[in-house]
Amino acid sequence: MAAAAMAAAAMADCEVTDESNDPGAAPFGNFINYYAFNPPENRMSLIPSTLLQDIGYSVESSVSDTVLLLDVGCNSGDLSVALFTHLQGRRASDDAAESRKLHLLGVDLDEDLILRAEQSNPFPENISFIPLDITHDLDSRTQLENYLARFGRSRFHLCACLAVTMWVHLNHGDAALLDLLTRLASFSDHLLLEAQPWKCYRSAARRLRKLGRRDFDHFKTLEIRGDITERAKEHLERSCGMELLRSFGSTVWDRKLLLFGKRKMMRGEI
Ligand SMILES: C[S@@+](CC[C@H](N)C(=O)[O-])C[C@H]1O[C@@H](n2cnc3c(N)ncnc32)[C@H](O)[C@@H]1O
Repeated sequence: MAAAAMAAAAMADCEVTDESNDPGAAPFGNFINYYAFNPPENRMSLIPSTLLQDIGYSVESSVSDTVLLLDVGCNSGDLSVALFTHLQGRRASDDAAESRKLHLLGVDLDEDLILRAEQSNPFPENISFIPLDITHDLDSRTQLENYLARFGRSRFHLCACLAVTMWVHLNHGDAALLDLLTRLASFSDHLLLEAQPWKCYRSAARRLRKLGRRDFDHFKTLEIRGDITERAKEHLERSCGMELLRSFGSTVWDRKLLLFGKRKMMRGEI
């Protein structure tokens, strides 16, 4: 790799770019140009397009229920749309009747990003975006329950939480990270998780300092550090009734993409 390309890749690692790419400090990872340096294909290429069928849901069978996806921290929606089309295995031009079965809700705390997601949404019948801070217990419960109620369900079939954990952890602390995982597990039967590794925390803190901004409230006092993915897995397995089903390998940024599922005896709902 040429030196300039290597430098660019190293800078882009950990979604921490230089200021010329990112005019705002984006303290929640709410980068306005995220998909310019981490296109959805980087992760879609790791996820089998048969994932829903593999975990027991069919979006094609006429007798199957609607399948509900949740994308937490959806940014400007590019990955949400890519995930939707990837898992549905269909294109915008395909028969609309066949698309009724898969629905996706994208949530993000950044209202401007949600507005952009709404404006460029190619499937407004099937994909919805709402502003929501997932760390707010009551808001999350109300908004997610309202959405699920439209389909007569109390849980999503699959929740994607990609590249979000670090931002919740740095901004709200250890308890909030665990609460986030507990909440996602309580609202979904399957969870696709990409947690940023510890080296990214250090890069994010360094970047704030370089920009002359205040440090993250919790960086120095976090007790959960080191192998963050392993700690998340431990929590999901020990306290949330989930088990690791599959690892889809590592992304170009060397992050694991893991699929968890509710242990069978913990499900028991429509
Ligand atoms: C680095 S981006 C990842 C975007 C997308 N999940 C992906 O992997 O392509 C992190 C996103 O999480 C959002 N985010 C951070 N904290 C959040 C919170 N507490 N509630 C909802 N969204 C949050 C940010 O606004 C940002 O859009």
